[in-house]
Amino acid sequence: MTATPDRQLDEPIAALGACLRPAIIAIDGPAASGKSTVGYRLAKALGYLYFDTGVMYRAVTWAALTRGVAIADEQAVSALAHSLVIDLHPPQPTQQDGRHATVLVDGQDVTWLLRAPEVDRNVSAVSAYAEVRAALTAKQRAIAHRYGRGDAERAGIVLVGRDIGTVVVPDAPLKLYIDATPEERARRRYHELRQQDKAVTYAQVLADILRRDRIDSERTLAPLRLAADAVRIDNSHQSADVTLKQALEALCARVGKL
Ligand code: CDP
Ligand code: CDP
Repeated sequence: MTATPDRQLDEPIAALGACLRPAIIAIDGPAASGKSTVGYRLAKALGYLYFDTGVMYRAVTWAALTRGVAIADEQAVSALAHSLVIDLHPPQPTQQDGRHATVLVDGQDVTWLLRAPEVDRNVSAVSAYAEVRAALTAKQRAIAHRYGRGDAERAGIVLVGRDIGTVVVPDAPLKLYIDATPEERARRRYHELRQQDKAVTYAQVLADILRRDRIDSERTLAPLRLAADAVRIDNSHQSADVTLKQALEALCARVGKL
């Protein structure tokens, strides 16, 4: 899933790392737009923590589905969001299966279970619940600020999600919004699911993505939208390398103005 880093990018990455102090980089965008790919590669290159906030909403959804909690039962789902212990760890050298992070829910490794189509289909309903958002946003913000203050073991953090630049850390100085057409995003997600031997059709994946886009963008609380000070990159027709390069240029230009 992760492309080989382009060596030509070493220099701009080193330059950016040198001019950033403890930094929070916020990346938002719709499903399968490529935000994790660029976020992970940026974090890795800069030596920052990579934090995909979507896995927290997925973890609550997965727990509800596997524990027989009805997704429509807002109170019970919200209770899960408060009580679950969700831990994220960088992958071990032995875990070379394409994961960007290992996700533990109450001690169980659920990294790949969170990618099931059933989780995809239900996660937007779960993430629209006010109590779920309150619980998870508070955890995400606390982690982000610890890194932003320079109180953590790494020099910075890259957070990826839907509302990072608008709600979780609106004060983040560096914000990207990664976009692509629904058809291209569905093609990418379909390809990923087929590689994992999931029985899905392109039409189903496109329908799920359009539905998730609609719920994520139209919900009252923290809807997906472009922050006024975010740089939008449409990577529908370009490689992950080109997107990383554009992201670096945008961030360097922004740092110059800080
Ligand atoms: O990887 P993909 O873009 O398909 O999804 P994700 O980032 O794992 O997020 C899964 C779902 O969690 C999204 O469709 C949103 O409903 C929700 N989410 C959110 O509401 N706020 C975030 N900061 C991150 C994810
Ligand atoms: O995090 P998000 O759901 O926005 O997407 P992703 O997991 O970064 O990317 C979804 C899929 O698209 C992955 O398999 C990436 O390798 C692929 N991708 C691509 O083909 N071209 C890009 N420019 C970016 C991502």
